[in-house]
Amino acid sequence: CKQLCKFLYSKGEVLMKPEKLISYACDAQDNSQSQYSNFPVGSALLSDDGKVILGCNVESAVYPNTLCAERVAIYSAISQGYTKFKAIAIVSKTGAKPCGSCRQTIYEYLGNVPIYVSDSTGSKISTYYIKDLLPYPFDL
Ligand code: THU
Repeated sequence: CKQLCKFLYSKGEVLMKPEKLISYACDAQDNSQSQYSNFPVGSALLSDDGKVILGCNVESAVYPNTLCAERVAIYSAISQGYTKFKAIAIVSKTGAKPCGSCRQTIYEYLGNVPIYVSDSTGSKISTYYIKDLLPYPFDL
């Protein structure tokens, strides 16, 4: 679902249209290793300096070893030194919202950024916030 989208400029800050971030998530979905579930998921994370970090789900024959697309993107970004984020996009064939574990990770590392969710066509994007998806988060 590659699309031609443009960047928006606002108060000197470069913002990315949801459609564009979703199209990156679609690119990431193409890299999914989901041979057991046949449920490829792609994620794209936008850092505060405009960098896009991709993630896809990676499955294992030892099923619990599987990693979700969102957490692959978030941990990859953190491991590359990114700490502040503007938005995350998630695509799958059903337009599924993030699982509980990913919600906790989004809460801890992304905070209140828009969470764009779409099916793989990218045609209808829903926007969520973690306070609604995880109203009673775990804190230490
Ligand atoms: N999956 C994700 O990548 N993100 C989620 O938020 C939910 C589930 C993956 C894990 C597994 O590879 C497949 O989707 C089916 O559960």
